[in-house]
Amino acid sequence: MLALLALFACNSTPEPLYPALPAVWGPTAAQNVSLDENIVEVHLSAGMSSTTWVDGSPTDTWAYNDQVPGPLIHAWLGQTLRVVFTNNLNEPTTIHWHSLRIDNAMDGVPAVQAPIQPGETFTYEFTPPDSGSYWYHPHMRSNEQVERGLQGTLIVHELDAPAVDNDRYFVLDDVSLTSTGGFTSFSIPGMEQMHGRYGNTLLLNGEAELVTDTIRPRAVERWRLVNTANARTMYMTLQGADARVIAVDGTLLPTPFAVTGELQVPIGQRLDLEVIPQADAAQVTLQNVVPTNSGTASIPLFEATVQGEPGDGLQRAWPAAPLPVVQPSRQHLQLDLGAVQVAGAIEWQINGVAFADSEPFVVTQSLPSTLKIRNQSGPEHPFHLHGQFFQILERDGEPVDEPGLRDTVLIPGMTDVLISTDFSNPGMWMAHCHILEHAELGMMSMIEVMPPEMPPAR
Ligand code: C2O
Ligand code: CU
Repeated sequence: MLALLALFACNSTPEPLYPALPAVWGPTAAQNVSLDENIVEVHLSAGMSSTTWVDGSPTDTWAYNDQVPGPLIHAWLGQTLRVVFTNNLNEPTTIHWHSLRIDNAMDGVPAVQAPIQPGETFTYEFTPPDSGSYWYHPHMRSNEQVERGLQGTLIVHELDAPAVDNDRYFVLDDVSLTSTGGFTSFSIPGMEQMHGRYGNTLLLNGEAELVTDTIRPRAVERWRLVNTANARTMYMTLQGADARVIAVDGTLLPTPFAVTGELQVPIGQRLDLEVIPQADAAQVTLQNVVPTNSGTASIPLFEATVQGEPGDGLQRAWPAAPLPVVQPSRQHLQLDLGAVQVAGAIEWQINGVAFADSEPFVVTQSLPSTLKIRNQSGPEHPFHLHGQFFQILERDGEPVDEPGLRDTVLIPGMTDVLISTDFSNPGMWMAHCHILEHAELGMMSMIEVMPPEMPPAR
C-alpha cells in the first residue's frame, strides 16, 4: 500500500512553484510568454501612437505597446523578469526600472548602457530583490519621452500578501496640451525652467475623463498610486472610504497609518493604500486637489459606485519586515541643490555644477551612510536615488516621523533633509531631481558605490 502511494505521488504533476499572477485593475498587463515558471518574459516596444484627450483632436503620443501608460509588468517576488525591448522611435532611448535594487547593468541609464538606437532590440533581465509597486520610464530626454507617454507600472507581488477584494494601480499624470490636442513645445521656456512643465490636463491611467467603476460595500482593496508627472506634486483626497497607507515607495510599512485629509504624492513616489468603503457610502471617489487663482479645486478622477456582495471590511495584517535599525553614520555626503543663470537660461546644479560638468561621488558599499541634501533654491525638488533604499532622518535638523524605505524624497524650497542609506548595491547610480526639466537642465549627479577593498592576502 505504501509503495503504491509513493508511485502515485511520483506520477502526479509537480506542484506549481508560483500561483497564477493576480488580476490587477488599471493599465492592461503585458502578456507573459515564458514557459519557464521562474521567468516572466514580456515583449515591449516603444513607438509613435495616438490617443484622444481633447475632443475631436488626436494627440500624437509615444507609447509602449501602443498603450499610455504602458502595460503593467508584474511577477511574484523570486521570479526573474525578462523584458525584450525594441525601440521603434526615431531617437535613442533606454528603460529605467524606477527604484528596483537590481544589477547596475540593467538600470537603464546612459552611464551604464549604450543608448538603444532606433530599430534596435535590447533585453533587460533581472530578478527584483524586493516586492512592491514600481514603475518604468526612459532615462534619456525624459522630459519629452515621459511626457509623451513612455511610462508604465511594475509590480513585484508578495507571495504572503493577504487576500484583498481588488488590487488597483492608479497612474497620476498631467500633460501640457494645446487646444487642438498637440503637446506644447518641449523647448523648456522660462517658467518651465524654474518650476518644470505643469500640464493643463490631468490624467488617470491615461484618461482625461472621469474613470468609473464599481466597488463592493465594505470591500477591502489595495490601491497603488504613482505620480508620473514631469513637475507636479499631486495632492489626493478620498471620499466615501477609510484608507491606510500600507506601503511607501514599494516596501510595506511595519505600522500602516491612516489617511487623513490630503495625501501628498511626490513625483516618482508610490503609495499603497488599503481602502475600505465606509458603511453608509454610496460612492467612493478619488480627487486631485489642484491650486486655482482663488484657492484650490477638487477634481474627481475616479468614482466607484458601491454595489454588490459586501466584503468583510476588516483591515488586513500586511507582512512587513521591520525597518532596518539606523546605524551610526560612517560616511557622509552633502548635496547642495541650486541654480544659476547661464546666458539668460536657468542651469540647475548639484554642488555648484550641472550634470555635464560633474564628477561622480565615490562611496564605499555597505557602510552606514548619511546624505544631507540642502535645497538652496525656492522651488521644491523631488530627489531620487537609484539602486538603493533610504530612510528619512531629519528635516532642517529636526527628527521626523516619515517611516519607510524610500527612493524619493520631496524637499521643499530652502529646506534640507538628512537621509540614511547603507549603499548596499554596488555600481554607478544616478541621484537627481525627478522634475524632469530640472534634471534635463543639469540637476543630476552620479554616485559610484565601490565594493569595500579586499583585505590583503596572507
Ligand atoms: Cu524615475 Cu532616474 O528616475
Ligand atoms: Cu528639481
